[in-house]
Amino acid sequence: MTQGRTHYAGELNAESAGEIVRVAGWVHHRRDHGGLIFIDLRDRTGLVQVVAEPENAAFKALDKLRVESVVGVSGRVRRRPEGMVNPDLASGDIEIVPTAVDVYSVSETPPFNISDAAGVDEVLRLKYRYLDLRRPELTANMILRDKSLMAIRQFFHQHGFLDIETPALARSTPEGARDFLVPSRNRPGHFYALPQSPQIFKQLLMVGGLDRYYQIAKVFRDEDLRADRQPEFTQIDVEMSFVDRDTILTLMEDMLRHLFAAVLGVTLEPFLRMSWHQAMREYGSDKPDLRAGPPLRTLTDIAQRIDWPVFSQAGNLVGVRLADYQPSRKDLDHWVEAARDLGASGLVWFVWGATGVRSSAAKWLAADETEALLAAAEVHPGDTLLVVAGNDWEAHRIAGQLRLRFARQENRLGSGWRFLWVTEFPLFEWSEEENRLVSAHHPFTMPFGEDIARLETDPASVRSEAYDVVLNGTELASGSLRIYQSELQARIFRVLGLSTEEAEAKFGFLLEAFRYGAPPHGGIAFGLDRLLMLMAGADSIRDVIAFPKTARGTDPLMNAPSPVDPAQLADVHLALRR
Ligand code: AMO
Repeated sequence: MTQGRTHYAGELNAESAGEIVRVAGWVHHRRDHGGLIFIDLRDRTGLVQVVAEPENAAFKALDKLRVESVVGVSGRVRRRPEGMVNPDLASGDIEIVPTAVDVYSVSETPPFNISDAAGVDEVLRLKYRYLDLRRPELTANMILRDKSLMAIRQFFHQHGFLDIETPALARSTPEGARDFLVPSRNRPGHFYALPQSPQIFKQLLMVGGLDRYYQIAKVFRDEDLRADRQPEFTQIDVEMSFVDRDTILTLMEDMLRHLFAAVLGVTLEPFLRMSWHQAMREYGSDKPDLRAGPPLRTLTDIAQRIDWPVFSQAGNLVGVRLADYQPSRKDLDHWVEAARDLGASGLVWFVWGATGVRSSAAKWLAADETEALLAAAEVHPGDTLLVVAGNDWEAHRIAGQLRLRFARQENRLGSGWRFLWVTEFPLFEWSEEENRLVSAHHPFTMPFGEDIARLETDPASVRSEAYDVVLNGTELASGSLRIYQSELQARIFRVLGLSTEEAEAKFGFLLEAFRYGAPPHGGIAFGLDRLLMLMAGADSIRDVIAFPKTARGTDPLMNAPSPVDPAQLADVHLALRR
């Protein structure tokens, strides 16, 4: 049989007419039409049509072909007859008249139709992922992934970063998820942990003088999965020495600008920067979606002057302005229900219609109070205002969710790449589960200089030198300047309630490293899969990963996780508990 190819299907076009070519790939479609046989041959670049008349020597071979069989076709390219041109196809102007067909392998009937897989159960697609990957959408995502990795590596290389690999057999790192453990055979009762990030290694690389590091790193987290989470995923991991925050932010913004230009041909606007406090106040979230309409309005001050306990006694009162929206009674019931769903005790609405303002609080508010409230919320005729109450950030959080739901439901999510930096996160947050302060990012994050004095007296108010990249409501990256003085690091451990012994046992090697000359340093890590998901316009990160896990963390193709041989367990000194 003849091997090889002269062209990919997607490379053939009107200019190829008259050429003798050899293509190879899968039978996407086969149809009989007035005695002629048409084959759509598919490879990773696209489709090309092969057409044979009964007199053609290759007719017989084509006649019996089943879809998804693998063939090589030699032949002459010709222009399609008038009226048969397919403008949706790169090769839609031409077709191949075969002179020889080699059938490399014959396919059984596939478990789902490659050319029409919409609605096919995802677990079935994952079980037959090699078939799923033949779908043009998934193939395109793999190509996007490859191009993006090239562009990213190119950028870092050009900017003096060293690509350094860090171990996968490591010890637990404090990123806050559960570890995947690997039992040790040589040290009974001891375990490696698969890295949740290369965090400690990259900081040690800075102590090691490597100055600028990046890695496209596989990392592992045993946590509850969602559409944008996988148990193993890829980070673009970065660390730099002798830099301030703005240098890191500017460089990472440039990296994304380079990536989007190289891969999507998109020019990104300079990223907005916003403190965590502002993000919470204006969007009720630390990952604001800037596309979803105007910011929230905090109405606490004005509401306190209104003699109605629902308002005057609310910890916080927050308004969501729904621009140019005149809801029906049923719509309003829906929003009240939605607010309750999100945990609000209720919702007060104002609708500014043609005949004036209607409100669920009309009975309790004087006309001038309503007027003052609407003015403070910057509500205009034609708008609707939803108001929720709650303590601390609760009202903001609920209002932020209502803002998003409204934009999605009414199809008002504007388009575009709305990147922003969120900075000045709180250094600590309260963990209900553990009933103690925990690091909001991780314990190596540098506290904000002017707040360090309050570390012991008012830790909840201490801001950090941490920053996130947010794109259209998704957290794409997190990073921070790091602590590089062992005394300050020890102080943070104390605030976190780690005794000197515990800190020494867990991170003694890091504290020790800092005693031998640690440079000031900082870095960031991007979730590559999330970034690609948004670039591809995909609904799930599974669509940009060749062999992802299901939402339950399993791999239906290899059938992992799986039981192992008792001898294997004995090797690593483990016995199963019934
Ligand atoms: P962080 O834990 O925020 O920071 O992770 C960085 C980015 O990784 C992505 N991400 C995920 N993607 C897919 N599936 C998951 N389960 C998942 N979890 C996180 C997110 C996130 O922004 N060591 C620090 C970085 C640093 O300080 O330099 C870290 O890992 O996009």
